[in-house]
Amino acid sequence: EMSDDERHFQDKVDANIKVEPRDWMPDDYRKTLIRQIGQHAHSEIVGQLPEGNWITRAPTLERKAILLAKVQDEAGHGLYLYCAAETLGVTRDDLTEKLLSGRMKYSSIFNYPTLTWADMGAVGWLVDGAAIMNQVPLQRTSYGPYSRAMVRICKEESFHQRQGYAIMMKMAQGSAAQRKMAQDALNRMWYPSLMMFGPSDKDSVHSAQSMAWKIKINTNDELRQKFVNETVPQAEYLGLTIPDENLKFNEETGNYDFSQPDWDEFFEVLKGNGPCNTDRLNARRKAWDDGAWVREGLLAHAEKRAAAKVA
Ligand code: ACO
Repeated sequence: EMSDDERHFQDKVDANIKVEPRDWMPDDYRKTLIRQIGQHAHSEIVGQLPEGNWITRAPTLERKAILLAKVQDEAGHGLYLYCAAETLGVTRDDLTEKLLSGRMKYSSIFNYPTLTWADMGAVGWLVDGAAIMNQVPLQRTSYGPYSRAMVRICKEESFHQRQGYAIMMKMAQGSAAQRKMAQDALNRMWYPSLMMFGPSDKDSVHSAQSMAWKIKINTNDELRQKFVNETVPQAEYLGLTIPDENLKFNEETGNYDFSQPDWDEFFEVLKGNGPCNTDRLNARRKAWDDGAWVREGLLAHAEKRAAAKVA
């Protein structure tokens, strides 16, 4: 049974009218958005770590400059998203504390290591590719500040995806050793990339309500299928093999049939037991602690200025 407020709210969402920060919204709509936008922001920030790992070891100055710019973009995405979450009445400090104490998640993908330079190609191509597949529809999400943040983020993500593919192309067309590195990166990143879209629809606890509220536009499985359909020809063009013996174009459905990732592994990673979970959180805790003096300095400065104005 919906209250009048809830009915009015749902009508508005159904009519594709954006919900803005001061509008009435159901508590669970607000909570779901804080969870999703907050996790998304954390993913952008934690997502800097696997690529940051290679900035000092990029093979050329040009590659270093590109990678540095890309990792900086991710920081920017995190900041837009924290701002979007703040319009819902939470503070960035609160979200950060929840991340650091393990009470909020970030994307499973960033708990995998980046072992070689080819991983910079595979991350850009597959991880940013999966991110765009998920985020382009989110430009039409019902919450105004989130949908507007997505517009710029998607433009930058598509540049990131292209730079990753450009690295893969160079490696795949390079020496036998480089081709081997490219194939190895694809082998390791493929299934973790498929996991980015979340559990299969039957296990997705939030999808039904989130889709009714147009927080989500597509189901997890729909987007995963779309990603596979788009990525297979890209792998073929590179001359690389997707590590899936069951991968096959299905004439009837017009989709590629493919193997599901190991969902037990996915849930283990979510519980904190992936290869890099501990490292990632330790790195973020260290950054937070090391930055304390900057935050304190800024606050002291703001207080001084406010006092000076009163005087
Ligand atoms: N990594 C970590 N946790 C995940 C992942 C994942 N890949 N997929 C799902 N989960 C979590 C959900 O957060 C949820 O847990 P919670 O209730 O504790 O929050 C649980 O698994 C069940 O999943 P769903 O019910 O399907 O959750 P939801 O409806 O939120 O769908 C999805 C998950 C598709 C990731 C959605 O939150 C989303 O679209 N988020 C915005 C995009 C995003 O966060 N991208 C980050 C990665 S890309 C990047 O930023 C570079």
